[in-house]
Amino acid sequence: MVAFASLRRLSLPVVAILAISACRTPPPATTPVPAAPPAVVPAVSVREDSVRRPAVVFADGWRFAKNEPATFAEHGMVSSNAPLASSAGADIMKMGGNAVDAAVATGFALAVVWPEAGNIGGGGYMVIQMADGRREVVDYREVAPLAGSRDMYLKPDGTTDGSIIGWRSSGVPGAVAGLVAAQAKYGKLTRAQVMAPAIRMARDGFLVDSGLFTSVTRSRALIARFAGKEVFLPRDSVLAIGSTFRQPALARTLDAIARDGADVYYRGWIADSIAAEEKRGGGIITKADLAKYTARWREPLVWTYRDYTLVGMPPSSSGGVTMAETMNILEHEAHMPSFGSVAYLHLLGSAYQRAFIDRNSKLADPDFYPVPTAQLASKTYARGLFNAIDRTHATPTPAVTQQMVEGLHTTHYSVVDGDGSAVATTTTLNNSWGSGVYLASVGFMMNDQMDDFAVQPGKPNMFGLVQGEANKIEPGKRMLSAMSPTVVLDAQGRVQMVAGAAGGPRIISATSQVILNVIEFGMPLADAMRAPRMHNQALPDELRLETNGYPATTIDSLRAMGHSVAFLGGIANVNAIRRVPGGWHGVSEPRAFGAAIGY
Ligand code: GLY
Repeated sequence: MVAFASLRRLSLPVVAILAISACRTPPPATTPVPAAPPAVVPAVSVREDSVRRPAVVFADGWRFAKNEPATFAEHGMVSSNAPLASSAGADIMKMGGNAVDAAVATGFALAVVWPEAGNIGGGGYMVIQMADGRREVVDYREVAPLAGSRDMYLKPDGTTDGSIIGWRSSGVPGAVAGLVAAQAKYGKLTRAQVMAPAIRMARDGFLVDSGLFTSVTRSRALIARFAGKEVFLPRDSVLAIGSTFRQPALARTLDAIARDGADVYYRGWIADSIAAEEKRGGGIITKADLAKYTARWREPLVWTYRDYTLVGMPPSSSGGVTMAETMNILEHEAHMPSFGSVAYLHLLGSAYQRAFIDRNSKLADPDFYPVPTAQLASKTYARGLFNAIDRTHATPTPAVTQQMVEGLHTTHYSVVDGDGSAVATTTTLNNSWGSGVYLASVGFMMNDQMDDFAVQPGKPNMFGLVQGEANKIEPGKRMLSAMSPTVVLDAQGRVQMVAGAAGGPRIISATSQVILNVIEFGMPLADAMRAPRMHNQALPDELRLETNGYPATTIDSLRAMGHSVAFLGGIANVNAIRRVPGGWHGVSEPRAFGAAIGY
């Protein structure tokens, strides 16, 4: 059954459609909370002073109510942006798969049912924390093609072109290499078993829901520019809600990967097809690029926050380092101001500002640039930054600070299994529907991840932001990311939370705020996800608050302290899981589509 909380966001016909689809495939046993107390109640860590705090109150007029239900499941849980993908992952665990099997099943399923961001033409990161203590991350970020160069998008008039839309905007995809490698190393089932739900949904079709309908509608103009028009806009109309959507070309591709592994994608007939289409369309990705691609196994970035250990993504993502630096700064505050207060927003915003200043100038692909990860993630370094925060005035971001920006769309999924292993995965085509390019012969969208490089070092990009030389384009280099898949462990080393987000630089702030809301303010996960969010990426030098999330008096006080305050309709798209007595709570992003499904 689809999470109750998610159903509330869908239109009635869609609820009916999902119910029909649930009848066609036996649903995973998932129960909306509150759950009956289990016989054995394991201790769940909550900071003591968070329990003593006054209950968090959301501002009048805020779009979300408190005390909404989460999805409860006793054994395993998947929280993603597509109910059918979460269901695929939960089904795999019911068959005996572990969290990695389920994550890989969810990842391939998202490529079928959530093609705006789920993908096999993009890249991402997977953080794996096994219950037996093994932990590792797979970096399957795209790389710049061999023909890429620092100024490849620069035009004679000094502007740039081609890094966001169209054939030349794609990096060499890493998703297939990463998912296949993770499953081979940590999974319990066969690759064919975990890919079966995705292949079935691509081949036999699935019912279009309001999430996919809305996504295609929003990006209609981009999709219509390339071959995806025939697939996602049949007879010039957006795929209708409730219609059965089949993707035979994608089914053939997925089937080949299930049978022959990543090799067929990077060296076999799929590579031939990608390279041929790239050549015809004017792209620069060749067979040599594909053959050279490798996913990288890395040590996770591990840091602590009070009694908790966080396991996150090291460079080539900036996510872990920036979260660690922010949380290390905050940790020096012995008595955290209450949630939503002027003092908290000032402190949190000042911490993000300092962490983003470092992120923007010092982080890049560590294979190409000496990244000072240990220093930036150290407690001592954070103490200096904490001490320098003026408690009564905003500190202006130096105008010379270099700045980067990532695309706004991505997707994150969180998974836990019955043994207590956890997987946090974030994957992306960069912007929604990536470059817009659809490879018809193999049935998938290509990314526009090249725009995550500094396409014009030292000059403002299309968002008015200045990007750094460390992240300049070089052949074979991974572009810097903000993706922040994170697993939180308690003092006993047990998984307490799994979280991550979509939303460019706001991934970092939203992911860390959901975690802080739980472990610092004692919020139930559903409230932690619904609480208003804020963001500060140093440049533009402003606190960005969710509209109606904070009272006018709070905003006036922040302005009086010298903050420039701006408003956003929504900040990021998080999918998270939390341990609770007797099982897990899962919550998919209330600001978007999706579902947490468990068993
Ligand atoms: N393209 C978004 C990110 O990697 O952060």
